[in-house]
Amino acid sequence: MLFTLLPIILATAAVTLPLASPLDTSAHCGQWDSVGAGSTYSLLLDQWGLSGATSGSDCARITSLQGSTIAWVTNWTWTGGSGVKSFTNMQLDVGLDRQLANITSIPTVWDWSQSTQGKIVADVAYDLFTSATPGGSGANEIMIWLANFNAGPISAVYNSDGTPQPVASNISLAGHTWDLYSGSNGANNVFSFLPTNGTITTFNGDVNTFLKYLTAHEGLSTSQYLITAQAGTEATSGTATLTTTKYSLTIE
Ligand SMILES: *[C@@H]1O[C@H](CO)[C@@H](O)[C@H](O)[C@H]1NC(C)=O
Ligand SMILES: *[C@@H]1O[C@H](CO)[C@@H](O)[C@H](O)[C@H]1NC(C)=O
Ligand SMILES: *[C@@H]1O[C@H](CO)[C@@H](O)[C@H](O)[C@H]1NC(C)=O
Ligand SMILES: *[C@@H]1O[C@H](CO)[C@@H](O)[C@H](O)[C@H]1NC(C)=O
Repeated sequence: MLFTLLPIILATAAVTLPLASPLDTSAHCGQWDSVGAGSTYSLLLDQWGLSGATSGSDCARITSLQGSTIAWVTNWTWTGGSGVKSFTNMQLDVGLDRQLANITSIPTVWDWSQSTQGKIVADVAYDLFTSATPGGSGANEIMIWLANFNAGPISAVYNSDGTPQPVASNISLAGHTWDLYSGSNGANNVFSFLPTNGTITTFNGDVNTFLKYLTAHEGLSTSQYLITAQAGTEATSGTATLTTTKYSLTIE
């Protein structure tokens, strides 16, 4: 009985439920603008270091959404200051506040390209936060860089030539090799995985393998809750357009 009724119920629901609001594909340029994409993601302009720029701007727009696969474009230009101006990113809005011990996998795909004018200082990276409580304030920040354009990770230790010194080298995860840096930004412990082999413009892997590496080797507690999962570009200076043709991230 249930099986014969179900398609009818679903068909009725499809007709009577209000249509989902249309995807906002317009450009947004405000410092803290947030553009929802279904209930799955939000595009965040997040120009948190804007006041450090002498001039510049940063805009972003969603270009498509199909299921949990999204695409967007970020174009920015910043001059002045040595700090990050913006982290315009795609934030996951579902499945968070899970204890690390309870996460099976975090599959992700990120295909992107970038055009630049002149020298830029920026990265393209995932940015995750964990906390001792669900929805709490961040205690640990975990970054997975796919590209480093004249920037550098936070590090507690530097070599005599001024380059950051990794806490571990040549770690094989998700089909690539990484160096791991560790340090504090004043508020969080920051772990940064940087690719040893240049820029990764096509990434397809399990972000949970990075978290598992940190719980196994770097003292990150499995009782921590994953509270934030974002991916975007930390822009310090120069002019660039980052085009993400395909992105998805889910917590399972
Ligand atoms: C970015 O693109 C928007 C249009 O989508 C444009 O208005 C803006 O001037 C561009 N900004 C930069 C820095 O290129
Ligand atoms: C893990 O999730 C299960 C339900 O999926 C829950 O019963 C259990 O308490 C959770 N454990 C932890 C450590 O969060
Ligand atoms: C990492 O791998 C590279 C390339 O194989 C090698 O030159 C380097 O010595 C390795 N670093 C460490 C710390 O093992
Ligand atoms: C690193 O790059 C070299 C040269 O492009 C390539 O031959 C090698 O397969 C790469 N290694 C990894 C682990 O991606």
